[in-house]
Amino acid sequence: MNKKTHFGYKEVKESDKSKYVGEVFTSVSKNYDVMNDAMSFGMHRLWKKILVELACVEDEDVILDIASGTGDISKIISREFPNTSIFMTDINYDMLDEGRNRAIDENFNSNCSFCQLDGEVLPFDNDTFDLITIGFGLRNFTNKEKGLSEMKRCLKKNGKLLVLEFSKPNNQIFSKIYDWYSFNILPKLGSLLANDSESYQYLAESIRMHPDQEKLKEMMQDVGLVDCKFYNLLNGVVAIHIGNND
Ligand SMILES: C[S@@+](CC[C@H](N)C(=O)[O-])C[C@H]1O[C@@H](n2cnc3c(N)ncnc32)[C@H](O)[C@@H]1O
Repeated sequence: MNKKTHFGYKEVKESDKSKYVGEVFTSVSKNYDVMNDAMSFGMHRLWKKILVELACVEDEDVILDIASGTGDISKIISREFPNTSIFMTDINYDMLDEGRNRAIDENFNSNCSFCQLDGEVLPFDNDTFDLITIGFGLRNFTNKEKGLSEMKRCLKKNGKLLVLEFSKPNNQIFSKIYDWYSFNILPKLGSLLANDSESYQYLAESIRMHPDQEKLKEMMQDVGLVDCKFYNLLNGVVAIHIGNND
């Protein structure tokens, strides 16, 4: 059976989606950090700091950072909590390689391990992690429910999952400006700074196809996470969802 899913606004075979997502991130890997700063006017740095604040990390936590890419979240945790053990992981070799090189160059690798893996099929035992983070990664999964359920399985009792992801703005005027920016400026920025407008067109489309705040909260509850809640940032352009494993 060739079930269908979305790759941005395109309908594709489920079995092909991760290949297309892989092509996007291989293409953007070298310019990923510069583009992030340019697109968000540097705000993504603050959003990631807030995620770490909300995570209430403890000194010797074992932490899984899924879709870690170039490692922003792992870097903040590693610097603030040097006694934690952090698994920086990504499905894409080129992104993970950028993250690992950066961890070595910027000297935050001492408590980090690196592992190429698919967040939908985690190669870890049940009850392994105190904390799982995923920043701007879930949107790209083929089967988000499967990924969330794997995350829940790998959390220890009382462990926490934090999901940082684009979401739905809660103000109509703001939403119109944001749409204009996403579909007119983002692809042009991509073309100008990274010679790649298509990947940034995918970014804008994939954000619109991603479940909104309430839906994602419901999906987290459906896999058995408890006390699920979310915090809107920048009018809901981005949201941080938190769920606990009881
Ligand atoms: C937008 S980047 C986010 C990187 C980093 N977390 C950040 O916030 O800057 C999305 C990352 O998700 C990764 N990714 C996509 N699908 C994935 C999957 N199924 N499992 C693990 N990583 C995945 C991509 O390779 C990419 O590195």
